[in-house]
Amino acid sequence: MGIAYGADYNPEQWPEEVWAQDLELMRRAHVTMVTLGIFSWARAEPRPGTYDFGWLDRVLDGLDGAGIAVCLATMTASPPPWLSRLHPGILPEDADGRRRWPGARQHYCPSSPVYREHAGRLVERLAARYAGHPALALWHIGNEYGCHTHQCFCPVSARHFRRWLRERYGTVGALNDAWSTAFWSQSYGDFEEVLPPRTAPTFPNPAQQLDYQRFSDRALLECFLAEKAVLARHSPGVPVTTNLMPDHRPVDAFAWSAHMDVMALDFYQDPFVPDDHIRAAYNFDLMRSARGGQPWLLLEQAPGAVNWRARNGPKPPGAMRLWSWQAVAQGADAVLFFQWRQSLGGAEKFHSAVVPHGGTGTRIFREAAALGRELASVPRISGTRSRARVALLADWDSRRALELDSRPSTALEQPRLALDHYRPLFEAGVACDVLPPGRELSGYRLVVVPSLYLLTAADARRLTSYVAGGGHLLVSFFSGIVDRCDRVHPGGCPAPLREVLGLWVEEFWPLEEGATVHVHGAVRGRADLWSEVIVAEGAEVLARFADGALAGGPAVTRHGYGRGTAWYVGTRLEPAALRALLDEVRAAAGVRPVLAGLPAGVQATVREGAGGRFLFLLNHETAAVEVALPQPMVSLLDGGGADSTAGGSGRGGAPMRRQAVERALVERVTLPGRGVAVLSGAEDVPGAADRPGGQLPKGRTAQGP
Ligand code: GLA
Repeated sequence: MGIAYGADYNPEQWPEEVWAQDLELMRRAHVTMVTLGIFSWARAEPRPGTYDFGWLDRVLDGLDGAGIAVCLATMTASPPPWLSRLHPGILPEDADGRRRWPGARQHYCPSSPVYREHAGRLVERLAARYAGHPALALWHIGNEYGCHTHQCFCPVSARHFRRWLRERYGTVGALNDAWSTAFWSQSYGDFEEVLPPRTAPTFPNPAQQLDYQRFSDRALLECFLAEKAVLARHSPGVPVTTNLMPDHRPVDAFAWSAHMDVMALDFYQDPFVPDDHIRAAYNFDLMRSARGGQPWLLLEQAPGAVNWRARNGPKPPGAMRLWSWQAVAQGADAVLFFQWRQSLGGAEKFHSAVVPHGGTGTRIFREAAALGRELASVPRISGTRSRARVALLADWDSRRALELDSRPSTALEQPRLALDHYRPLFEAGVACDVLPPGRELSGYRLVVVPSLYLLTAADARRLTSYVAGGGHLLVSFFSGIVDRCDRVHPGGCPAPLREVLGLWVEEFWPLEEGATVHVHGAVRGRADLWSEVIVAEGAEVLARFADGALAGGPAVTRHGYGRGTAWYVGTRLEPAALRALLDEVRAAAGVRPVLAGLPAGVQATVREGAGGRFLFLLNHETAAVEVALPQPMVSLLDGGGADSTAGGSGRGGAPMRRQAVERALVERVTLPGRGVAVLSGAEDVPGAADRPGGQLPKGRTAQGP
């Protein structure tokens, strides 16, 4: 138990003498887990069918001896050169039919049976050899599926696509119907006529494109599942994961969550973007929500700068600590970096690592070691969970459909629209889950639907009965427009939501780039991107367009429906205006922030469970602030000060230097710039409960209602 702490470990890049040093430095940095072998295929199988695991045995044994758990990779993310030389057919093709050559990584067609067979053979060997190894804690399949090659358009993929279509539609008639092929003379007489949406003279069929994205995701998932089946045979009970990417359209994290034993994310906050922690927060909430609140793993982040942005900002002092604790505050039970030791050669030599080129006498190593010590000092956090009363709906199908070409505006991008709605909730300090529309919503007081363009009639009915049953719903423009096949729901947009919203939209009126309009009424402010001609049929108009072509027309509405209320926003409100609206909606829904009166820039979350109840306070600003606590609490961190190099925490996260923890009850906390505090009620801290005022009032919680 304890928060796992460590990094991607790539010992094959270093001579063996360095490995012993690594173990000593890992001990100093309080590392408890490493991800091993992600890109080791060429080293482990240097020639077809010839395996070399001796070096890996020594690495694993060494880690085990040091008490470090291993998240062992299946090594299949970067096929060795011999494989594509023997079988060039495994190489992927783009939509123009151009081959993607080896020389980087992820150069395989996900549908290739040859790739899958060779990957499976390697995984079989690995699993048989290491299933019982005492250091093995977790399997890590592939690496960032779909990061570079998310779609392949080669003939093998085309055949695979046709098989997938046959299974999905059964008959070519059903396919024609689903893809609306009566349009532009596209009707198929046989599945054999169907191709991937390769580059065409103009807009390809959107339903075909959408299905190709679904199919390509499925092809990647099949690769994952094939490897998972091998692992399950050899090591039943050892959890399996893969590292997902944030905001990543090719891979549907919600769909994959059903097949992962634990969710895992790679997230690289951009130090040059002042509020990137809000994008991080959104993605962290999504990871936590995907498997019903189960703790997740931050499997990669950079200790300092990355190397793949145009300009790579270093993390200023304290940022590594703050952003790591942010992940924990939002439900992570692991904090790992890419990577342990900074490479001397290769494409990532300027990417930061825990052990930089300059060695251990560096700020980065010192900060990493101090963080390791600090995380190990609060092992009881792991396994605890959070609770939210607000759900924001996100959906991969809808995003993929929304972001296709030939829409009213190409400026509608789902991650941006989702963040527009998430941000005011985050800034108001409200706990939020991020869910797909098919999940159970009855436990939420408020459901926010940012531009869910594709919404099935069944999901729209669920939203409607959610409101009828007393729920509060806020829907933004261009939601509920098409069905699963990108066909407009008949009956006036947004047809399946028309009843619950009490309105329909006669005409979309997207705005020119840079153009703004104003809304006035109960909500006031600037708006951009989108407007529309709303016809109220029961809904009360809260605000109207004040200028522009639609001046005088409804812009924001409210509709009482059954025992609940549905709001609708027909434009993109500027942040302050949307915040004001959401504050009102929240008040109506009875949703309170985690902690009242938080200073701007401070994030507060609660995790609770068998280990106790923990209040996390994170200051994302650079100036110090003071936070009043809801009741006297015990501060569990000592400020993340200088590293203690004495002793390692070891696997299992044994408590470190508990005597350093401040145990006095406090009513206020001063957070320095980028400061972090983790607090508990006195009853959760051994030795503090007997102090005067040490008991939390029964039933009181810092969490919202
Ligand atoms: C991704 C990959 C890693 C590494 C990092 C660099 O997350 O999974 O192998 O390339 O990017 O930031």
